[in-house]
Amino acid sequence: MREKRVLAKKKSFYKSIRPKDLFKKILIHGGFSRFRRFYLKIFYDLFPAKALLLTLKLKHPDSYKHCKAVSCLSADIYREYISKYGGKIKVKDIKTAALFHDIGKLFISEKILRKKHLSESEWKEIREHPEEGVELTEDIFGPKIIKSIAMHQEEADGSGYPRGLGDDDLNLAAKIISVADDFSAMTEKRGYNIVKTPSEALQEIIKSGDRYSERVVEALKTIFKKRYIIFGQKNIP
Ligand SMILES: [Fe+2]
Repeated sequence: MREKRVLAKKKSFYKSIRPKDLFKKILIHGGFSRFRRFYLKIFYDLFPAKALLLTLKLKHPDSYKHCKAVSCLSADIYREYISKYGGKIKVKDIKTAALFHDIGKLFISEKILRKKHLSESEWKEIREHPEEGVELTEDIFGPKIIKSIAMHQEEADGSGYPRGLGDDDLNLAAKIISVADDFSAMTEKRGYNIVKTPSEALQEIIKSGDRYSERVVEALKTIFKKRYIIFGQKNIP
């Protein structure tokens, strides 16, 4: 909490500084040892994207695993999507945007991420992570990836955050990451979630109707059916 308060106080200052300096502030206030701060700073100078991921892995191991899972599932959904509807984005770009989609959670303490019931101010912190992810990565990635990170919590029916954008405003990568993110979150053991089976998670997504892109959900259903054949499971939606 203290960590977030310090970061929040300096928020207006951060807006005017470079992602590299923002990263240094995260290291200072993020509970890292002096040795790790030293090592991560040098690593950032050489490989900034890899250093951000390593910092996430050290600070929030569950979020790191989640980002990897969302990256793999997003790529699978997109490949399926292309085979049905076509697509101009590179698979590599979707994978990268999905891998870094929650990097803004470096600003949030592990305690809040694991909490079952969040206060209004804690929800506010969580809801800021897409924009904070953009602030951290804008020097590293191109506009397509940055836009997808910014939009990954938006929903096709306008119920998402931070801007409440609708289906027409969202890019395809963000729509895919949104579905992969929610599917993964529902099936992973998280602080504030009851774990669902993949079949239950898929049913939940199908039931959500306009919240997700219909085509993206169709692609997810097809993947599920293919894996169903491989694993011989029953009762798929
Ligand atoms: Fe997120």
